[in-house]
Order: sequence, then structure tokens, then C-alpha cells
Amino acid sequence: MTDPFPSLEAKAAYDAVAAQYAELFSDSLRTRPLERALLAAFAELVLAGDSGPVGDIGCGPGHVTAYLKALGPDTFGIDLSAEMVALARRAHPDLKFDEGDMTALDLPDASLSGILALYSVIHTPPPRLPAVFAEFHRVLARGGHLLLGFFACDDPVPQGFDHKVLLAYRWSPDTLADLLRRAGLVEVARLLREPHDGERFQQGHLLVRKRS
Ligand SMILES: C[S@@+](CC[C@H](N)C(=O)[O-])C[C@H]1O[C@@H](n2cnc3c(N)ncnc32)[C@H](O)[C@@H]1O
Repeated sequence: MTDPFPSLEAKAAYDAVAAQYAELFSDSLRTRPLERALLAAFAELVLAGDSGPVGDIGCGPGHVTAYLKALGPDTFGIDLSAEMVALARRAHPDLKFDEGDMTALDLPDASLSGILALYSVIHTPPPRLPAVFAEFHRVLARGGHLLLGFFACDDPVPQGFDHKVLLAYRWSPDTLADLLRRAGLVEVARLLREPHDGERFQQGHLLVRKRS
């Protein structure tokens, strides 16, 4: 059985800052044209696959869940933090949000056409990330897509940093792509962008696909 401690720590940390997080980030896509473009491409790919809904895993206050749903895919959110889930439900009463842990998802095998995991694996201790990717692989249908957002670094070894909420890790896109490939999730595309004002690090997105 996996040690629940890292998840309990993340749950408590995000419960404590949920309202502040929602205030800071709920409108963030408005000033992020590259992220919007990626989400539009992701929506098109999952709609073409037509193999189930999309799970926004680690959805926070649900703003990206709602954005994706408005683009067409049937999308729901899952988050570890009860406070985040409550805020997401309040802001988007027409959408489904559930509490859940990405390390053990309460979802059947091969049930999703897509997964969004935007900055939600950043706190996962590096040795535990392969198990999370295995769980993503399990719940994705064949040909399903995962869009992963993360803080990037050049070093092939993940770099811990003092994220405002909880210790987090930066990853080199190559190292992450390799871990994903080992989990059976092959790279389709990547985006690396420079930090905006107020951001500290380059931000990366990897779009990967479960082999059909
Ligand atoms: C940095 S926030 C990102 C939220 C949202 N995806 C976004 O892009 O704004 C990280 C979120 O991941 C959630 N999270 C962290 N560990 C998780 C886990 N093991 N399972 C599910 N959610 C988790 C946190 O509660 C938090 O809401």
C-alpha cells in the first residue's frame, strides 16, 4: 500500500489556501493565449477520439475544467482538496466535481478519452511519479490523450523549490517525456514558454497519447 502522507500534506496545504488560489488564478487563462491554444487542440483531439469524458485531475477551483467543457468535451474535475472541490462546485454548478486522489483514482480502466493534469503533479515526490503516470495510463482509453502542465528546468534531475503552497519540483521536459513513455504514454507535442511577469520559471506542457 502507498504511504498516504504526501497526499495528506497536499490536501491540508490546498484546503488552507483554496479561496486565495481561486481568487488569483480563476481568470488566468484570459492572459495565457498559448495555453488556450493548447486546450483548443486538446479538445479537438479528444472529441475526435470519442472514447469517454475528460478528467481534469487536480482541477483546483475548476476554471480550466469549465473552459474545456465550453470547447465541447464532456469534462469533469477531481481534486484532493475538499475546499477546492467546494469552490469549483460553487463557481460552476453545472459541472461535476469530486474529491479524489490521483494516486488511486476511483475510475474504471480505460474510461477516459482525456486527462488534464495542469500543475497538479508538481508536488508529487519524484520517486512516486511513475505510479501516478501508471494510474493515468490505466484510466485512459486506448488512443486517449493526457495534457500535463509543469514548471520546467534544464537539469535532467528534478529540482525541488519553495512553491508558495508546498514543496514542488521542476522537471526537464525530456526527463518527464521519458517517464511518460515508460508508462506507455508517447509524446505527441510539447510547449515550453518563458515566464510571464510574476512567474519564476519556464512553464512546460507535454501532450502525450496512450498507444492504441
Ligand atoms: C497548483 S494547483 C493546480 C490547479 C489547477 N489544475 C490549475 O491549473 O490552476 C494543484 C492542485 O492539485 C491538487 N492535488 C495535489 N495533489 C493531488 C492528488 N494527489 N490528487 C488530486 N489532486 C491533487 C491540489 O489540491 C491543487 O488543487
